[in-house]
Amino acid sequence: MDTLYNFLSAALANYWAILFAAIFLLIYKFASRRKKFLPVLPVGLLLAYLALRAALIMYPEGANPRIRVMMDVAAAASLWCAVARIAFSIFVESWHYWRRRAKIPKITRDLILAVSYAAIILIVLRTRGGVNLFGLITTSAVLTMVIGFAAQTALGNLLAGISIQLEKPFRIGEWLQYGEHIGKVIHIGWESTRLLTFDEEMVIIPNLDISKTIFKNHSQPTLMHAMKIDIGVDYEVPPNRVKKVLLDLCKQEPAIRSEPKPVVRITNYGDFAITYQMRFFYDDFGTLADVRASVMNRIWYAFRRNNIRIPFPVRDVAHRHIERRAEAAEYARLRAEAEAMFCTVPFLSPLSQEARDSISKKMSVEEYGDGEIIVKQGDPGDSLYIIHRGSCDVEVALGARLPSKVATLLPPAFFGEMSLLTGEPRSATVRAASDTTVFSIGKNIFRDVIASHPEISVELAHALARRQAETAGVVGKQKEDEDRNASKLLNRIRIFFGISA
Ligand code: CMP
Repeated sequence: MDTLYNFLSAALANYWAILFAAIFLLIYKFASRRKKFLPVLPVGLLLAYLALRAALIMYPEGANPRIRVMMDVAAAASLWCAVARIAFSIFVESWHYWRRRAKIPKITRDLILAVSYAAIILIVLRTRGGVNLFGLITTSAVLTMVIGFAAQTALGNLLAGISIQLEKPFRIGEWLQYGEHIGKVIHIGWESTRLLTFDEEMVIIPNLDISKTIFKNHSQPTLMHAMKIDIGVDYEVPPNRVKKVLLDLCKQEPAIRSEPKPVVRITNYGDFAITYQMRFFYDDFGTLADVRASVMNRIWYAFRRNNIRIPFPVRDVAHRHIERRAEAAEYARLRAEAEAMFCTVPFLSPLSQEARDSISKKMSVEEYGDGEIIVKQGDPGDSLYIIHRGSCDVEVALGARLPSKVATLLPPAFFGEMSLLTGEPRSATVRAASDTTVFSIGKNIFRDVIASHPEISVELAHALARRQAETAGVVGKQKEDEDRNASKLLNRIRIFFGISA
């Protein structure tokens, strides 16, 4: 009975403080769930405070008074640390975010909080526990020395970390090169900075080491970055042709910036090849491997289309004649396939065997890699293409809008007829949608064909009008009557090729 009485009277004495802490805890828990910026630490500290206070109420009167004092000190320290954390969050962190639109660096925040917590503990120990640690710390030179020596590296790292935070030679998300390690900064801590490499491995560098050594920041002063690629090319090919092919290729690769302009230089006359160096700029160092691979891929196709060889000595010396024979056989096979295919292309099927044979002899065969542009909207063009293998997407851009895909073409579809027949710039961009081979028929070849078989211009004019109507439908342009448009186009084709009606 007595114990119950004591408990209730003690509880009543502490009633207000406990009630206030409990209500505050409930409100804070609710608020921190909604407002993500509020820290969770105060919840734990307030719970600890309540538990210690409850334990103190139940603590028997005559029991060990030292334990009572210790519990009282712990409770008071928990409460004040919780108050300090909440005040820091509301008055310092929120204010800083409001002023600068950025969070306080982790190191600075942790340092301020650690000093505040230490000060609170020292004050509470002195006022409630009667323990004076201030004197101990200030007078104990030996202790200070021991701590100083033991914490030398840690302090060095800490100070270097603070200097990194203040000076900001790099930030989270930027790409650093430290010695042989290249990685993205994912953490700047008290002790160390962490990088995540291209291979998803973490490199941990002590802050002190960073402050003492030279490192490269690939993301500053701008995200723009230069890439150099060396390529060996056959001595037979004129340098200006190689340079043109490589510079044209740079225009096609979306990752390559147009400014500063890409450059191609000869850097060496080697034993069996001339070395060219391409230098261009791209935007994000993190995409280095992808950009490099994409450009290398394009080089293979561009060289193949332009008959530029990348030589290597063994084959060049011993097997070149065998290679030439294989190339001739491959060419003959492609020609036979082309002739067979021409019978299935509607506008070419009326041609005589002789005419088809002549086209297959004069046309060129071009290979394109997935995603490469074959013809570009707005460019001048005087050749028609027949798809031999693969597939192509036709895209039309109208004004500032993103290009819309108007068709996907499969073998034996043809494209490029609009510019060839009317002399106008390319009306669409045609892009290889997979690895693609096309037969390219130039204007000179086509002029002979149309002169000997003028009837095919009717078929072509209708195909052209049909496509123009389809494109108008997809991009939302006004459609013209298809038959009327076909007869207008037929007239233009006749004038362009000088055919009488
Ligand atoms: P040309 O204008 O020379 O170059 C782009 C080519 O895209 C064009 O010729 C046509 O061959 C092709 N093209 C344009 N619109 C369409 C369409 N709607 N369907 C299929 N091919 C098209």
